[in-house]
Amino acid sequence: MQYTNEELKQKINEYKAKLSVTVVAHFYQRDEVFEMADITGDSLELAMRTRDDDAEFVVFCGVGFMGQSVKVLSPQKRVVMPKIACCAMARMIDSLYFDDSVKYLEKNGISKENILPITYINSNADVKAKVGEMGGMVCTSSNAKHIITTALSEGKKILFVPDRCLGQNIANQMGLNSMVIGQEGDPKEADIICYDGFCSVHQLFSVGDIAFYRKKYPGILIATHPECDPAICDASDFVGSTSQLIRYIKELPEDQKVAVGTEFNMVNRLRSKNTYILSSTKPECPTMNETTLEDLYLTLKAIDEGAPINEIDVDEKTQKWAKIALERMLAL
Ligand code: 13P
Ligand code: SF4
Repeated sequence: MQYTNEELKQKINEYKAKLSVTVVAHFYQRDEVFEMADITGDSLELAMRTRDDDAEFVVFCGVGFMGQSVKVLSPQKRVVMPKIACCAMARMIDSLYFDDSVKYLEKNGISKENILPITYINSNADVKAKVGEMGGMVCTSSNAKHIITTALSEGKKILFVPDRCLGQNIANQMGLNSMVIGQEGDPKEADIICYDGFCSVHQLFSVGDIAFYRKKYPGILIATHPECDPAICDASDFVGSTSQLIRYIKELPEDQKVAVGTEFNMVNRLRSKNTYILSSTKPECPTMNETTLEDLYLTLKAIDEGAPINEIDVDEKTQKWAKIALERMLAL
C-alpha cells in the first residue's frame, strides 16, 4: 500500500514513540527525512552526539561512512541505515589504494616511520583502520586545521586521504606546501601529500560562478565548503563545514545576499530570501538523496517486527583500529 508523506510521517512518529530508537540525519538529507530526525549536525557533531546517545537503535539517515563511524565508536549500539548509500568520495579509496599511497612515498625517499596519515571522516572503516594502525587519525571538515596543526608537531610528512581539495585548502590556509599524488611535485618538498580523491558534487562550483554572482549582485558574499576546489575557496568570503556555514549564514543581516557552494537540500532550507546556490547545475548529492521517507518508515517497521534491516557490522580488527583513529581525533 502506498502512503502519502503525511501518513508516513505519522507512522514514523508512532514508531519513534514506541521503540528505543534515535533517528539521526545529516543536513544533506531530503527535507521530509531531515524533519523526522532527533539529532542533526555536521559529520563531527553526528559522530559525537550519537556516541553519547543511549537508545538501543541508531537509525542513521546519511551515507555509509557516517553510520559506520557510529558503529565503530560504539560497537554495543545497533546501527541501521534506511539506505546504505556510499559517499562517492569515500568510494575512491580502499585499504589497497591506501597501501599504494604509502609505497609511493617510500619510493620517493620518505620512510614509513616518517609518514603520519590523516583520513577525512569521508572514508570507509578499512581506510580509517589502516590510518589508526600507522599512528594516524581522522579529521572532519570542521576540525581539519586543528588536527593537521597537531599532527605537524610530530615533525612527520602528512599523508592526507582521500580528499585532495580539503588537504590543499588547509595547506593553503596554513601557508604549507602541498602536492597531490600523481600530479606535479616532489613529496620530499611537501608538508602535506594528498591522495587524488574529490567530491563530484563540490566540483560543480566554478570560479566563473563566483565572478557571475559578484558582477550581478555587488556586495554579495560567497560561502563555500572546503571540499570545493582551492581556487573556489581562495575566492570565497567564508569557508566552513556544513554546521559552520549554517551558523555563518544565519548570523548575516536579512538583506545581505549570499551565494553558497554546498549541497542543494541544505542551502535550500537555510533562509527564504537573499540566498543563492553557487552553481547553475543543481548540486545534489545523489547518495544522500537516496534515503526516502518510505525507507525510514520501513526501517522502523522492521525494528518493530524484530527483524531489523540494513544493520551495520564492522569486523573486530577493523573496528579496533578505526576506533583508535576516530578517538585520537575526538580526544583533540
Ligand atoms: P560536513 O562534515 O561539513 O557535514 O560534511 C560532510 C560532507 O559529506 C560534505 O560533503
Ligand atoms: Fe560524499 Fe560529496 Fe555526497 Fe558529501 S556531498 S556525502 S562528500 S558525495
